[in-house]
Amino acid sequence: MTNDERLFPADFLWGAATAAYQVEGSPLADGAGPSHWHRFTHTPGRVANGDTGDVACDFYRRWESDVELMRELGLQAFRMSVAWGRVFPEGTGRVNAKGLDFYARLVDRLLERGITPSVTLYHWDLPAALDDRGGWLNPDIAHWFADYAQAMFRALGDRVPLWATLNEPWVVADAGYLHGVHAPGHASPWEAPRASHNLLRAHAAAVRAYRAGGWPHRIGLVVNLEPKVPASASEADLAAVRRSDAYMNRQYTDPVFLGRYPEEMPGLYGEAWPERDPAEVEALKEPIDFLGVNYYTRGIMRDEPSQPVERAVRVRHPAHPVTETGWEVWPEAFYELLTGLKARYGDVPLYITENGAAFYDPPSTADLVPDGLRIAYLRSHLAAVRRAMHAGVDVRGYFVWSLFDNLEWSAGYAKRFGIVHVDFATQVRTPKASAAFYREVIRTRGAHVTP
Ligand code: FCB
Repeated sequence: MTNDERLFPADFLWGAATAAYQVEGSPLADGAGPSHWHRFTHTPGRVANGDTGDVACDFYRRWESDVELMRELGLQAFRMSVAWGRVFPEGTGRVNAKGLDFYARLVDRLLERGITPSVTLYHWDLPAALDDRGGWLNPDIAHWFADYAQAMFRALGDRVPLWATLNEPWVVADAGYLHGVHAPGHASPWEAPRASHNLLRAHAAAVRAYRAGGWPHRIGLVVNLEPKVPASASEADLAAVRRSDAYMNRQYTDPVFLGRYPEEMPGLYGEAWPERDPAEVEALKEPIDFLGVNYYTRGIMRDEPSQPVERAVRVRHPAHPVTETGWEVWPEAFYELLTGLKARYGDVPLYITENGAAFYDPPSTADLVPDGLRIAYLRSHLAAVRRAMHAGVDVRGYFVWSLFDNLEWSAGYAKRFGIVHVDFATQVRTPKASAAFYREVIRTRGAHVTP
């Protein structure tokens, strides 16, 4: 490979990602309405260690110095989400100007500092008032969401270049409505496919609102995808892989790009699967400008009839390393995922909207957190992205998850994904060695990342 081929393109966008409830804190400040995550974290037994998002990284109050920190780290882009309930405390109807203003000031400051804002409209914190009306189970949520999206476009549509409607609809439905481990904590195979469908309807409605407003930039959807491989060569495990792939991956991307659900879906849910009018599913295929891909690991799947819907479980590879969240470190699967997307859906522009790892960070020595495992993870995964680009995959940018250690949902603060260490008792930020590594990657366009 020549020197130039090793480098990432000059216009490749390098950023770091966060989400509102995970970093902001002050969830009820300035007239905000509570989210169903606020309720969930305040329900005993739901979140490890009883952790809540009440303070988190205190980003709601420290955003100005945090933007300066982003600049020092050399970031070109910042992926953030909007807390719906700050803007619409009841979810619909009345706009809370102070909530909207927080995001407007943040976006303006980022732009002033030369950092591209990438805004996700829904990263899991639903206004509690809407959960009371059925949340993602109520079909009206498609227009509730489109109305909220439209308000955000009116406020920021001229200057936010990259919008995402939803973050990871699969997790919203699977963790929130099938397994009950995320807000709103329901566990029902009857609910999950209905929530998924309304998520996709809401996504499509927001994209239509964006087009109708004639906004000049780009809008897409963020999904988390995981290549599935069988635990053995048995027929049963091969079938488990087909089910898991349909359930986790294709359930969302097939409707968006092909206008249909995977043929496996009715079999997965049995009588709980709602028959759909094909025209209604076809309407989910609203053209998007990019797909955001969140990648962490692959799934080695074994047939397990006792499991709901998927009837499969993931198993550990005997030799490969895993992160603190138990996720196998396997960058080859990232390459396969990206090239596989091109093979199935054609030349869709992609952004890697999340990629990163939780590791135990040793105590800092002289202001440095030596997180070599995270550096190795980032290096090997960036190399996989670059290889996929050489194979013709159109990747436009990369966002590391995450800028900060933050509230890792029901795992609480114990799982640290940041390239910046946060001391939650003092709110002191300390860039880890991975932050210095990432700054070098950005500065040199990845010269020392690829072999
Ligand atoms: C993703 C979420 C993100 C973060 C990472 C670790 O599923 O989008 O908020 O929790 O996992």
